[in-house]
Amino acid sequence: MFLNNKRLEIEGGKFLEGNINISGAKNSALVLMAASILSKGQINLFNVPQISDVLVMSKILIAMGMDIKSNANQLKIKTEKISPPSQDLFFDLFNSLRVSFFCIGPLLARFGKAKIPLPGGCLIGSRPIDEHINSLKKLGVIFKLKKNYLIAEVITPSKRLLGSSINFSCKSVGATETLIMAASLAKGKTILKNVAQEPEIIDLAKMLNLMGARILGAGSECITIEGVESLKGCDFRVMPDRIEAGTFLIAAAITRSKISLSQCEPNHLEEVIKKLELCGCKFKYSKNLITIIPNKILNSVNITTSPFPGFPTDLQAPFMALMTTAHGTSQIKESVFENRMHHVNELNSMGANISVKDNIATVVGVKKLEGRLVMGSDLRATAALAIAGLSADGKTIVKGLEYLERGYEDFSAKLQKIGAVISKK
Ligand code: EPZ
Repeated sequence: MFLNNKRLEIEGGKFLEGNINISGAKNSALVLMAASILSKGQINLFNVPQISDVLVMSKILIAMGMDIKSNANQLKIKTEKISPPSQDLFFDLFNSLRVSFFCIGPLLARFGKAKIPLPGGCLIGSRPIDEHINSLKKLGVIFKLKKNYLIAEVITPSKRLLGSSINFSCKSVGATETLIMAASLAKGKTILKNVAQEPEIIDLAKMLNLMGARILGAGSECITIEGVESLKGCDFRVMPDRIEAGTFLIAAAITRSKISLSQCEPNHLEEVIKKLELCGCKFKYSKNLITIIPNKILNSVNITTSPFPGFPTDLQAPFMALMTTAHGTSQIKESVFENRMHHVNELNSMGANISVKDNIATVVGVKKLEGRLVMGSDLRATAALAIAGLSADGKTIVKGLEYLERGYEDFSAKLQKIGAVISKK
């Protein structure tokens, strides 16, 4: 189903050359916006990517009574007038953006109650929320389901969340973030084990500690949070988007182009860089700058996606596009989401040779891909098809541009600037 007919047109086979500035991380900025609910002061966020998911999140927070002023890559967020969401205003907004569910932790911490539409599954998987729910219950929350709304209430005598020890049964980025935010204002100490270790978790803890929270261990297996009475405002710069950076490194590799990425964090990309080196790419580094120099012939390489510091699931589709014309056969195993192979049929329609069994794709490298009309199905699948189009013979038209605009700032403009023949239609 396409929201509209927006698409990318790409003339493949061009070498790229030059530098791309990496934008702020979508998967940090959205959670930092939710975390601003915890503060009674003003939160000034810098390096915020101008993407549609940020616009939707802003609308949700404004509908809750927050005052948000945006100017280029900066958001000024004032939260003194916020009130818990009243159901009718929100259903479609919340439903269009899964990460809006992460507001539940801050709302419970600040107001002792929350009423939020139950997040649905999506194309890449059922996207359950059991880790969020079961852990919040341990902080003193009860939940009721009314129509498609989750009604949550803190039932401790003081109506304030109570710190507790929680051992997640799976590494969930969202559940880890929800509990860090909720526990920041809880009474007493919370210990979180088997937590996600993504860099975005560290970014969230950094900002909350700047606001007066007392969080230790973000990025490790165990996080300790000493609840405080209140959190003040702060200025904070969003970390660089490691998935955008990885996407452009893969675009350089598939076009055999030497390019550099600035304003990025090489240490967020260690596993991706390791796999690209195995393919035959060389790298040079200086502070916040990565330069990639691909070989003429690229080798097939196997990957299995896993929570950080493993290979990120969000780069599985772009990496598969790269493997379609690598030398040899590669196995790509998706172990994080149960249904994240929608790009396979579209890549095969361009001449790739990919078969899938039990979430493992076997990619037999072919000489060349042919430009085609292909359809993006989600954010990262659409990016993968655009990457394939950069190297294919002839013209590729990628439909589903609205998916791409959810998570990549100026995707086509950044590639155009370094020599790609790519335009939005
Ligand atoms: C975050 O989603 C990212 N989104 C996703 O990025 C990313 O793919 C994912 O983490 C994994 O890295 C944002 O940060 C906004 P999870 P999240 O909870 O938090 C299972 C993109 O393309 N699980 O870490 O929703 C779940 O089914 C998007 O930018 C439970 O079982 O992911 C999945 O198999 C896509 N119960 C695994 O954990 C729960 O309560 C990882 O999910 C929660 C999750």
